[in-house]
Amino acid sequence: MKILGIESSCDETAAAVVEDGNKILSNIVATQIPFHKKYKGVVPEIASRKHIEWIQPVVQQALEEAGLSLDEIDGISATARPGLMGSLLVGLTFAKTLARVSGKPFIAVNHMLGHLYASRLEYDIPYPYLGLLVSGGHSIICKVNNFDDIEVLGTTIDDAPGEAFDKVAKFYNLGYPGGAVIDKLAQNGNPKAANFPMPIIHQEGYQYSVSYSGLKTAVINQLDKFWDKNYEKTNENIAAAFQERAIKILLKPLLRAAKDTGLKTIVAGGGVAANSLLRAKLAEHPELKCVFPSLKFCTDNAAMIAGLGYQFLARGDRSPITAEASARVEGFSKKGKR
Ligand code: KG4
Ligand code: ZN
Repeated sequence: MKILGIESSCDETAAAVVEDGNKILSNIVATQIPFHKKYKGVVPEIASRKHIEWIQPVVQQALEEAGLSLDEIDGISATARPGLMGSLLVGLTFAKTLARVSGKPFIAVNHMLGHLYASRLEYDIPYPYLGLLVSGGHSIICKVNNFDDIEVLGTTIDDAPGEAFDKVAKFYNLGYPGGAVIDKLAQNGNPKAANFPMPIIHQEGYQYSVSYSGLKTAVINQLDKFWDKNYEKTNENIAAAFQERAIKILLKPLLRAAKDTGLKTIVAGGGVAANSLLRAKLAEHPELKCVFPSLKFCTDNAAMIAGLGYQFLARGDRSPITAEASARVEGFSKKGKR
């Protein structure tokens, strides 16, 4: 089955054709980064307008690179949630319209399940395993029983890790998008330059949760308080000290979840899964098998949406043509719910 996937939840207009869940026939990502750069963040209105402009040529290019006409496609999948409402609506409406006029089966999918699926485009990983979903808007540690069956163990109680990277980069004028810039700067900085606080989450049931608002505030508003006077306040040192803490905050509940569940395989996904320190720190645990998607499949792409869509469509699932977009995933932040 050849599935056309469409992704437009944030600032990438993307389309891909994937055969049988993992054979990538085309993968087009048109990034809007240059249009948002001067605002140091995604401007939702600009994002929606660019999606409207680009969606048709991007989908056409995905079909052309796959060497297929729409007739030869067996199904269409699109991201319906979570994301920026205006952005989501463009890709979803385009996909539903294509499905309607072509009579092809259609499935609306969850972007975060897409990120979790991304590794499966490249690796055959037996279920169950521990999932680590880290992006600009989410942080989820979960037990993955199947492509659509996850048990959420912990989430962020405030900000997502990617957001912390982006806000720190914005405040210190380091560049945009923040995650990749900080990752690069940190290579030449000293992580010991500051000793930022670790969050302490006491509430019962939150042992696998993370919090980033404290770190974000400390780095932005209280740098002097946590800075080691022996080090110069260079961008490299700020980036390295922040990143060290940001990754430690993530590793603590993740390793605890691995120990408590007995799951030895960790599969990561989402933009922050591109982080080199996260990868290096997990590589220090030979008792765990850690699977990371290639960088192009960590950040937003439509191959993961087409691959995930295949799984649903092959099982016979269909979404109605009335399927709606939703900015949030209801219940995602509640323990034990999807
Ligand atoms: O998954 P994604 O492309 O979009 C969302 O669904 O949010 O993730 C984007 C996030 C941004 O916050 C970006 O700064 C972060 O991923 N990111 C990184 C790295 N590359 C991208 N964060 C840390 N280290 C990186 N190398
Ligand atoms: Zn994403």
